[in-house]
Amino acid sequence: MKFFVDTADVKEIKDLYQLGLVDGVTTNPSLILKSGGSIAEVTRQICDIVEGPVSAEVVATEFPQMMKEAQVLAKIAKNVCIKVPLTLDGLKACRAIRNDLGREVNVTLCFSANQALLAAKAGATFISPFVGRVDDTGADGMELISEIRTIYDNYDYKTEILVASVHTVNHVKQAALIGADVIT
Ligand code: E4P
Repeated sequence: MKFFVDTADVKEIKDLYQLGLVDGVTTNPSLILKSGGSIAEVTRQICDIVEGPVSAEVVATEFPQMMKEAQVLAKIAKNVCIKVPLTLDGLKACRAIRNDLGREVNVTLCFSANQALLAAKAGATFISPFVGRVDDTGADGMELISEIRTIYDNYDYKTEILVASVHTVNHVKQAALIGADVIT
């Protein structure tokens, strides 16, 4: 199971990377805001440290603007993975970023197995189901991971399951038992 650190704190990333435990990084606009830098600056600094995929998220909600942002983010470094929200425009951007920019895409804000199926069909490199947030609604976040694992295996989708919104150590153990590809 790969470990992606979910932070935009450059010092924290450097320390964890030296331990040899970090396979990639996921950021989002709120994490970058907390770090005090701009999306471009902070993403560049992280890409200088980490070789694996570094997710940088678009903030636009509409397809044309998402594509403009994706082009800018893709130029920062070759390991930038463009993160888009799981909306219709986000799915459209996912396909276009894969096909036209040839970049990896992390489709985020996944709360259901059917949404994960749509993301796989749109060519997502990673799907990010938010297990902690699903638990908060009274449903079972890890059951969602199991369902997605079954669906992806049934049809041999190559999209990797990136378990996000991890709030307990049990989430980590369950993700490994289910066979999730990545945990944050
Ligand atoms: C992903 O981009 C998010 O940072 C994240 O995994 C959400 O986690 P939270 O539910 O702990 O805010």
